[in-house]
Amino acid sequence: MQVPSPSRDASITGRTPGPFFTCSGVRGFNTSREGRVAVGRLEGRIALVTGGSGGIGRAAVLALAKEGADVALQFNRGKEGADTAVAQVQKLGRRGIAFQADVSDANACHQFVNATIRSLGRIDIVACFAGHPFHRDEWYKPFAELTPDEIQRPIAIDLLGSVYIAQAAAPSMAEQGHGSMILVGSTPALTGDTVGIPYLVAKGGILSLARALAQVYGPKGVRVNALALGSIATEVTKRGTRPADREALAQEPALRRWGTPEEVARVVVFLASDDASYITGQTIVVDGGYALR
Ligand SMILES: NC(=O)c1ccc[n+]([C@@H]2O[C@H](COP(=O)([O-])OP(=O)(O)OC[C@H]3O[C@@H](n4cnc5c(N)ncnc54)[C@H](OP(=O)(O)O)[C@@H]3O)[C@@H](O)[C@H]2O)c1
Repeated sequence: MQVPSPSRDASITGRTPGPFFTCSGVRGFNTSREGRVAVGRLEGRIALVTGGSGGIGRAAVLALAKEGADVALQFNRGKEGADTAVAQVQKLGRRGIAFQADVSDANACHQFVNATIRSLGRIDIVACFAGHPFHRDEWYKPFAELTPDEIQRPIAIDLLGSVYIAQAAAPSMAEQGHGSMILVGSTPALTGDTVGIPYLVAKGGILSLARALAQVYGPKGVRVNALALGSIATEVTKRGTRPADREALAQEPALRRWGTPEEVARVVVFLASDDASYITGQTIVVDGGYALR
């Protein structure tokens, strides 16, 4: 686990507000003697994002930062992707920090959460994008031939990783009396499928986890929602699928195309923001109409 010291590590910077911020989706402006300062929907909030080195997680990190949040992001093996994301966050004038952690390790999750609170002050938003990497061979392997390891990995990373992060982060959010947690599921968890069964079992657990935690922490002002994502085009999904598979997947949803990481990131921002202040325990389906079939 890489926990940079605030005073020494270049991956932590103080916010550098100029008289103007350039961020999209700006809601308004504060005026001061220095001029107008753009205010995003998440101005002053602190976000923790797992899987921030990956395709959708990185888009979420940037969207949160564009709306004003400081962001602590977790990576596992993708240090380069994490460093790039941190640099982009800092370029937007927000504080950005990267931590290495394996989310299937409960201790590592607690350390990441504690280090975020130490470095950035508190956590207002949690988004859990860390997920077992897509492997075509595993995905299409007949159910009865899956090894215990192939069955356990998505459960350990996607599901238990979300459980451990939630266990570590929820108490401090409850204590401060507010927070928004966004867990990441998938549409096959709703519809069922003939392939990728360990993955959809893990994602089904995540949807249940969101509904349970919404009830546990709702009385303390903490909202917990889940996303059910359809086919979202990232480097990994492009690399892991054949052109014919990609075309077939594009034809599945009503909108007849893949989604983009940015289309998911906008929903993350919405759920993190006060625009979603009365929404909790829900599964928001972002799949271009796939689950309608
Ligand atoms: N893309 C889709 O079509 C789609 C559809 C439905 C749901 N989802 C879900 O959306 C999330 C993001 O997907 P993506 O397409 O952006 O995938 P991705 O690019 O493969 O990103 C996966 C992320 O998970 C991290 N990760 C992998 N193993 C880890 C571990 N043991 N501990 C901690 N982090 C780990 C990776 O970190 P490193 O790269 O640093 O190792 C990476 O940041 C996943 O939960 C995925 O299941 C995606």
